[in-house]
Amino acid sequence: MSHSVRGVVATRRGAPVEVVTIEVPDPGPGEALVRVQACGVCHTDLHYREGAINDDFPFLLGHEAAGVVEAVGEGVDTLAAGDFVILNWRAVCGRCRSCRRGRPWYCLSTDNAAQPMRLDGSALSPALGIGAFAERTLVAAGQCTKVNPAVAPEAAGLLGCGVMAGLGAALLTGEVSPGDSVAVFGCGGVGDAAIAGAKLAGATTIVAVDLDEKKLAWAGEFGATHLVDASSEDPVAAVREATGGNGADVCIEAVGNAKVFEQAFFARDLAGTLVQVGVPTPDMRIDLPFIELFGRGGRIKPSWYGDCLPDRDFPALVDLHLQGRLPLERFVSETISLEEVEEAFTKMARGEVLRSVVVF
Ligand SMILES: NC(=O)c1ccc[n+]([C@@H]2O[C@H](COP(=O)([O-])OP(=O)(O)OC[C@H]3O[C@@H](n4cnc5c(N)ncnc54)[C@H](O)[C@@H]3O)[C@@H](O)[C@H]2O)c1
Ligand SMILES: [Zn+2]
Ligand SMILES: [Zn+2]
Repeated sequence: MSHSVRGVVATRRGAPVEVVTIEVPDPGPGEALVRVQACGVCHTDLHYREGAINDDFPFLLGHEAAGVVEAVGEGVDTLAAGDFVILNWRAVCGRCRSCRRGRPWYCLSTDNAAQPMRLDGSALSPALGIGAFAERTLVAAGQCTKVNPAVAPEAAGLLGCGVMAGLGAALLTGEVSPGDSVAVFGCGGVGDAAIAGAKLAGATTIVAVDLDEKKLAWAGEFGATHLVDASSEDPVAAVREATGGNGADVCIEAVGNAKVFEQAFFARDLAGTLVQVGVPTPDMRIDLPFIELFGRGGRIKPSWYGDCLPDRDFPALVDLHLQGRLPLERFVSETISLEEVEEAFTKMARGEVLRSVVVF
């Protein structure tokens, strides 16, 4: 049997997204059918709509989601109908060479549902293998992580992508420790999550760098101790000044901009860490004096999904939130309906929101 539900689909490159009726099959072996309760609007959804990820239209958008398992397929014994879950795009396979070497956060073969969801008979490509701007979605069982159901779905779902990427950039990739100084370049949802992560890890100096006053004010609410407006001051000099002239132990680039990467590179202390979590475009180049790379030492670490393991990290982060130590609710700028996703893209592009979240 399949279920007819409403979903947000991008049918052509650059065309506005549409709410249409799609067909979602019952779960087969290893799959789970999830009734989506909330799904955040992320930049990556817009990238799909613009054809910047690949050309596999039509896309079923949405991937920062939480909901309730409605049914599971044959062989699924880790989940049951009624479980409250956050969806993830890192369902580790356990068999690839990264998994076998004990580094599952680099899994090369993550699991997705085997059966397609369909629009007018054609298979849909679900964004990041999820497709959660829909009343129901079909995923691999490993893409569902059970967490404490006391959390609000609109806050919990954000851990499914950008907020986890930022938290993990600080906590896991950057390994921020008590007493560290941290500078975060770009204070959108990802950068603010990196700030929240740095605070959680015990960083005592947290410098927020952005071009937008409003974004800097929000960064202060997440725990930044110093705010730097890079449109009017040199961020490298400002980070040095905030850190006793030394530079920060950990610099986190959360824009995806080569110029900002260079600033983050030079704003580090000697032997400091640079975490690259912002996603560059294929045309970007970095140009650094080779001797500076060697002479400054330290580490340069790209961060995919914050090096997280959903089953290990989501439940703990939800518990920290419920204990009042991680303000996930602050990332939710507004809740909207499925019909308002296109408008939410415009607000995102104008920098008016951290996250618009569709609630069902
Ligand atoms: N690595 C991952 O797994 C992962 C996951 C999700 C998102 N991302 C990426 O993280 C990046 C940030 O995502 P977001 O949702 O926070 O985006 P966003 O657009 O909400 O935030 C970007 C912020 O950077 C600021 N900015 C722009 N140019 C700047 C400059 N020159 N100097 C300082 N600040 C500047 C903007 O004002 C904005 O506040 C994107 O590239 C996104 O694709 C990465
Ligand atoms: Zn694997
Ligand atoms: Zn995302």
